[in-house]
Amino acid sequence: MKRHRVAWLPGDGIGPEVCEAARVVLDAAGFEADYLPGDIGWEFWRREGDALPARTLDLLRQTDCAFFGAITSKPAAQAVRELAPELRDRGLTYRSPIVRMRQMLDLYICLRPCRAFPGNPLNYRDKIDLVVFRENTEGMYIGVEFPKIPEAFRAEPPVARLPADAAISIRSVTPEASRRIVEAAFQYAVKNGRRKVFLEAAQEVAARYPRIEFDTANVDAMCMWLLKNPLNYDVIATTNLFGDILSDLCAQMVGGMGFAYSGNIGETYAVFEPTHGSVPKYAGQYKVNPLATILAAGMMVEWLGESEKAREIERAVSGVIARGAPRTYDMGGNAGTMEIAESVAEGLHHKRVTR
Ligand code: IPM
Ligand code: MG
Repeated sequence: MKRHRVAWLPGDGIGPEVCEAARVVLDAAGFEADYLPGDIGWEFWRREGDALPARTLDLLRQTDCAFFGAITSKPAAQAVRELAPELRDRGLTYRSPIVRMRQMLDLYICLRPCRAFPGNPLNYRDKIDLVVFRENTEGMYIGVEFPKIPEAFRAEPPVARLPADAAISIRSVTPEASRRIVEAAFQYAVKNGRRKVFLEAAQEVAARYPRIEFDTANVDAMCMWLLKNPLNYDVIATTNLFGDILSDLCAQMVGGMGFAYSGNIGETYAVFEPTHGSVPKYAGQYKVNPLATILAAGMMVEWLGESEKAREIERAVSGVIARGAPRTYDMGGNAGTMEIAESVAEGLHHKRVTR
């Protein structure tokens, strides 16, 4: 098999330490790749006025996929204040690099599995096992916001009634983006033996998959139903912002952000990441739970075509959780980030020696 080329983007805060933990596990799994480090994050915004410099975009173009840790984002006005003095008057606007990568590389699927691993004391219910397919390129995330309402919109009666100091933003929903995320969700359901798909507006795609049960619900009701009957859901397809919200809710049902991982997947490229942020208050302490990042690494290995190794990684994670030790603080223990990684890695070494 050809050697994989992975753009390695640890980013800010705890990003580097959870990525280091994932590397220990990737190596223990016998996964072979060239890891090419790339610059991304707050430091590059401050020093260069770009959190995702052009050289990093070049690196993405030269690799098979990217592995991303976390980045620190701040509100636009504060971001400008933190720029190096010589950059402050340039009219630069901070935009989240992960959102930019999703859009620039057309990574239209945000795949977010939420599984209650047996033995996880943080599970809201046992046996929860669902997957969120979040549309990843449009919706509120197109970033079109007007602090003052443009004249052209004033022709709309509801807009005309708004006061002069109202701000508005635009959310795009295109038929093509909706169709392809729903299609991806159905294909996943078929491939993984899932029974049900929830989604917003996809009757047309659904009609082509008569064997998969299909329901729609509004997002507010969905939050309620998910908490009431989490086992009723298999695959949830949704627009971008609702997917952002629902996937945090689902994450909390299976242990919180320490277990939440994402694949941002397009036709030919993908970026894998833990869903959590950069947790500045814990940066450098090696105390956060690396399992989300390790599971993201497993998803990357699967996407690169090494399914057996991916399954081994997931089984090793599952084994550590089921054993009940070691555990990081979020799970009631006091183990450090690398201790968890070593423990997952041991499960993999054991597997490889005894086979
Ligand atoms: C996520 C995050 C991002 C999002 C932020 C960091 C822009 O919350 O990946 O879920 O809103 O998509
Ligand atoms: Mg989010």
